[in-house]
Amino acid sequence: MANDKQLEFLQTCEAALLDGTFKRAVFNSRAEDGKKFRASFDLLVGGKKNFITYADNNSAESRRLELDGKSLLEMMAAPPITPFRTGLLCTSSFDLHYSENRKLQPRLYRSKASMKNVDQQHNRAKNYVLDSKRPYLQGLGVTNAKGDVVKKHYGKFRQIANFVEIIDRDIGTFVTEAKDPISMLDLGCGKGYLTFATYDYIRSRAQVEPRARGIDIKTNVIDLCNNLAGNLNFTGLEFQNVRIQPKTPQDVDILIALHACDTATDDALALGLRSNTQYFFCAPCCQAEIAAQISTSNSDFDLVNRFALMKRRQADIITDVCRALLLQSFGYDVKFLEFTALEHTSKNVMLAGRRDASVDREKAYADYLQLKQSAGFSHHALEENTADLRANSAA
Ligand SMILES: C[S@@+](CC[C@H](N)C(=O)[O-])C[C@H]1O[C@@H](n2cnc3c(N)ncnc32)[C@H](O)[C@@H]1O
Repeated sequence: MANDKQLEFLQTCEAALLDGTFKRAVFNSRAEDGKKFRASFDLLVGGKKNFITYADNNSAESRRLELDGKSLLEMMAAPPITPFRTGLLCTSSFDLHYSENRKLQPRLYRSKASMKNVDQQHNRAKNYVLDSKRPYLQGLGVTNAKGDVVKKHYGKFRQIANFVEIIDRDIGTFVTEAKDPISMLDLGCGKGYLTFATYDYIRSRAQVEPRARGIDIKTNVIDLCNNLAGNLNFTGLEFQNVRIQPKTPQDVDILIALHACDTATDDALALGLRSNTQYFFCAPCCQAEIAAQISTSNSDFDLVNRFALMKRRQADIITDVCRALLLQSFGYDVKFLEFTALEHTSKNVMLAGRRDASVDREKAYADYLQLKQSAGFSHHALEENTADLRANSAA
């Protein structure tokens, strides 16, 4: 049963669907078994027709629904979505928030439109949703022979699908317009999930066959990936059983490194900087380097560092912010995003960078040095791996 404020929220959703101002709605509620349930409805601007994509945390894939205000409202107003604990409606003119305090008293308020300027036109050209029937997904064991996602790989599938969507959103135009073969490098590729997915995506959109390489120190995964690439006739894709060489430049336009362990992420970023890559997509993994150094230092964050768990998290954040500042200091525009839901991986933060001559490099480096001093560490693998590069660029 919905309360008055939930009803008002739902009616506003319906009105936005009907008058064409709807962008997205997200609900957090509890299913009958008491488990958290999250559902989202997003407008997808199609070729001839607009759709709504629906996703929830129980399903591996999003679904396309007709943009029909009445039936969508029925779905939103029924369990397990309603009664919801929080709701967010984004329209082109305002956002509407529903929340409950600890005493379960409901609150409804409006704020400025957060999606007003979001360009959804790209969907018109792309029409690319990761298709679970792609043969490489079966070869990697993510899907079965019918192309259905294997239950234990739901999380992996969502991770791959989200990643492809990020690539499409951020660099789709580059991929379709490039006249030369696009060179992609996946460092610490593991079983190659993202290497296959990104190669397959680029191949489906680019004008010429891309050149993609996955690199990993594990021999067994490299053999498996090369066999699969051969079986699928993926001629531009190869896997190499080598260690990341941060000081040896490569031909690379798009550099990927997802969860490369500890400072292997810094090796990957250093290699990208040295190779003058156009784009970075990097999700750092476990990090030990900075945490180990600030244990005995006089950090400005001593109050935080008194609590071991908080110190560890703080060190992770400092490590990544330093990476971002160092990338900026070499002329990259950088952003952080959450590339998949926390329930799939706790390491869900991605650092995405693109070469941008307008970035204030000197300021970024000064900011890095300041953070290094206040955090109280002396070594950062990315700084050390790129010291010669900085010296050369300053000369
Ligand atoms: C956690 S797995 C991630 C695999 C893959 N990127 C993914 O997201 O599914 C990290 C991988 O990085 C590889 N790795 C770690 N250090 C490396 C290095 N210095 N050079 C190459 N590979 C490395 C490991 O062997 C492992 O396969």
